[in-house]
Amino acid sequence: MPALAKIKLGLRSVIMKLIAQPKPLTFVGEGSSLKLCQTIAQLDARKAIIVTDKILVELGLIEPISQALEAAGVDNVIYSGVTPDPVWPVVEEGLAQLRAEQCDTVIGIGGGSSMDAAKVIALAAANSQTNPRELTGLRKGKQAPLPTFLIPTTAGTGSEVTIAAVVSDPDTHEKNLIGDTRIIPKATALDPALMVGMPAGVTAATGMDALTHAIEAYIGEWPSEETDMLAKAAVKLIFDNLHTAVENGSDMAAREAMALASYYAGMAFSKAMVGYVHAIAHQLGGKYGIPHGLANAVVLPEVLEYSKDAASHRLAELAIHTGLGEHYEGDGALGRKLIDRVKELNQQVGIPTGFEQIQTADIPAMASAALTEAHGAYPVPEYLDQAECEAMIARLQLK
Ligand SMILES: NC(=O)c1ccc[n+]([C@@H]2O[C@H](COP(=O)([O-])OP(=O)(O)OC[C@H]3O[C@@H](n4cnc5c(N)ncnc54)[C@H](O)[C@@H]3O)[C@@H](O)[C@H]2O)c1
Ligand SMILES: [Fe+2]
Repeated sequence: MPALAKIKLGLRSVIMKLIAQPKPLTFVGEGSSLKLCQTIAQLDARKAIIVTDKILVELGLIEPISQALEAAGVDNVIYSGVTPDPVWPVVEEGLAQLRAEQCDTVIGIGGGSSMDAAKVIALAAANSQTNPRELTGLRKGKQAPLPTFLIPTTAGTGSEVTIAAVVSDPDTHEKNLIGDTRIIPKATALDPALMVGMPAGVTAATGMDALTHAIEAYIGEWPSEETDMLAKAAVKLIFDNLHTAVENGSDMAAREAMALASYYAGMAFSKAMVGYVHAIAHQLGGKYGIPHGLANAVVLPEVLEYSKDAASHRLAELAIHTGLGEHYEGDGALGRKLIDRVKELNQQVGIPTGFEQIQTADIPAMASAALTEAHGAYPVPEYLDQAECEAMIARLQLK
């Protein structure tokens, strides 16, 4: 890794260790989103803006929560303009509605897109003198966000518990990262009842996003006792439940297990970070509009194959924890089993092995952007250079 990137990474590691990350008050189980409404009322919310998307409104997921808030004494309005991988105009539109309606509380309901938009709207609202786009980067807002509550309807991003939010530039399609411990919500509800209608394809892709968070956090160079425990639990829950959740969306136990897995994995990577899978997946999302989870799912086996020697002991630990093998088999064989299980799960839940969209001419720029994103920010176990990264992306081309 270039020397400057090494220094940057070292500094970040010290900062990440020193900064405490608050944990949201968390309600779990069927109907927990309605219980959360009571808490929101108890925390003095007067008028809330619900940040969500049209599909969830049409599915009828938002109305009961809006009514429960009303019954608890919290006036509320709905902003349903969030689009997948939200762009800045989405944040600006939601912010304008928040201001026009004089809301004092933000409630994000949806996948990572709605939750991230909610986090940034709440931060921008509290920093009225700042253009929302200037919040890109680490802890850019002077003021803490308005009180924020998040209710995930996908089990994938873990945004309900992370210090991050991602908003894309509408012109360049570049993903802008907003990182701030204060955007972690005050409370969250992991309510499997909101997830039963999630289409199989979205369940599969978002579940593999959570798996990627857990594995990248575990094999990276910034582990801790806490992130190890969370990442291991998440990997096991996903291996045991994702296939069922995809095959039978109304299996409430599998849905709840996946919601917990996503939450654990979110907590793990919020401290231990992600790696090359995310760096490459972000380029595929930006360039071709491939959904975040799907891009991660396809890239994950490639990066694991590349890192299998450097990370063999950690992969072996995950294999043992998930019941794939025993100590005596040795790190190499156990790591192989873990990677094969990831590939098998991808196949079981209908994830392709590559993308037809990838154009050979685009590969050098995407590889370079992925390495710029990763080096100095992600504590990857094995350094990747431009040629290797290009070759990796080329292997993902489906002809
Ligand atoms: N903040 C973080 O820490 C973090 C981490 C990873 C990814 N992200 C970001 O999250 C975004 C992706 O989020 P996502 O993968 O959850 O997808 P998403 O929020 O974009 O949702 C995908 C689609 O699924 C639909 N959907 C969501 N829940 C549903 C349900 N219960 N039933 C039916 N349909 C449902 C949505 O309407 C949408 O059309 C990206 O912008 C990504 O960059 C953020
Ligand atoms: Fe992710």
